[in-house]
Amino acid sequence: MGSMEKNKQILAKEKEAFATAARIKYYDIVLDHGKGAILTDVDGNDYIDLLASASSTNTGHCHPKVVKAIQDQAKKLIQYTPAYFANSQAARLAPRLAALAPMSGPVEVAWGNSGSDANDGIIKFARAYTGRQYMVSFTGAYHGSTFGSMTLSGVSLNMTRKMGPLLPGVVKVPFPDPWDKLPNESDDDFAERYFKLFKLPFETYLPADETAAVLIEPIQGDGGIVKTPPKFMKKVYDFCKQNGILFAIDEVNQGMGRTGKWWSVQNFDGIEPDLMAVGKSLASGLPLSAVVGRKEVMESLGAPANVYTTAGNPVTTAAANATIDVIKEEHLLERSQKLGAKAKKFFDEEKEKYNFIGGVRMYGLDGGIDIVDPETGEGDDEATTKIMYRVFELGAIIISLRGHILRFQPPLVITEEELDRAFAMIDQAFSEYAQGKLSLPGNAGELGW
Ligand SMILES: Cc1ncc(COP(=O)(O)O)c(C=O)c1O
Repeated sequence: MGSMEKNKQILAKEKEAFATAARIKYYDIVLDHGKGAILTDVDGNDYIDLLASASSTNTGHCHPKVVKAIQDQAKKLIQYTPAYFANSQAARLAPRLAALAPMSGPVEVAWGNSGSDANDGIIKFARAYTGRQYMVSFTGAYHGSTFGSMTLSGVSLNMTRKMGPLLPGVVKVPFPDPWDKLPNESDDDFAERYFKLFKLPFETYLPADETAAVLIEPIQGDGGIVKTPPKFMKKVYDFCKQNGILFAIDEVNQGMGRTGKWWSVQNFDGIEPDLMAVGKSLASGLPLSAVVGRKEVMESLGAPANVYTTAGNPVTTAAANATIDVIKEEHLLERSQKLGAKAKKFFDEEKEKYNFIGGVRMYGLDGGIDIVDPETGEGDDEATTKIMYRVFELGAIIISLRGHILRFQPPLVITEEELDRAFAMIDQAFSEYAQGKLSLPGNAGELGW
């Protein structure tokens, strides 16, 4: 790593006026520019990006086609609110996105500015369509930071602490985390045990016929990159169908090709959502989100039930149209699968070498690597911080989830050569940790989720 002087100076100035609540702290860098999977800070240090801006730049930084689409559109019309008049980019995008949705039958979309407001939209449409008030979501879920979406979330106490009361009518059920599987427990028994926990509220205080929707991340993102056990997923899905409860999914983090499919729900058989939230990489990171749903459900509300002045803005929707083109033309779904298999091989081999790697989950270029105390098998936050910080010093951006899970989500355009270089850095950090060479950074207590 080279000089960090400018980074430090700018951060010190920003700190005077920037709220603690608005950034999860990791590394003291100020980003200046990016190209593909490479980021450069204000001191000119390069980093291989293994985070893709929290999975919001799947097409890589400043993809030339996305840049051109933004520039061309910005010259023509930057903003006119779609709340009143259509624009040609948003009008083109709506049927394209609807056609990509993992839903049969007519589909409609409604624009938003963030994944959070898309999940709020799910609450609105689900309640309106069913005439029922309750929403069910899962522990470990991250659905966003508006009052509705943070009420649906269950991954950090700082997302509720001091801010209640939250939205009424939201019930949280336990998510079947793989590390909570009992020794020798079969997949069937595991699914059944958690399905019983899922049903408990419905048997004790939550009338199914007053429940509007169950919202789930088919693969939890911030919960640790964890795929819902398929057998459990199917049971929950069937329960929803039997009880007239809408099945809603959050694809904000895991959609747009991240898992090697357009949508992470396509990694499951026989599941067709009624509603879906999309955001992040939809417009390669420009602020655009969407509630996507069955037409019948979407038509249950009238205007202005879900309008935002800048949602569906011409520039963001131009970026989204270009993003869809790039994902198709550059075969990024296949690329995610292929490079994801390479990454899985790498981390599986590392797991053989190092006893502090407890588990490796990889679904396309989308991975969670558990760092554990080999004695107890429990997640080891200190070890994780040491390792990720060392990887950063060596020149790659990787962060943690839940304190003890390495989050691996590079842009889908990352080259094999860049991946190999990143793997060499990660291997070096693992090896140095194994030799007891790594120490905690001075501000370790402040870092991470
Ligand atoms: C699964 C999921 N849903 C919703 C959101 C919220 O999106 P945004 O931060 O754009 O509001 C996130 C953000 O991390 C997410 O990972």
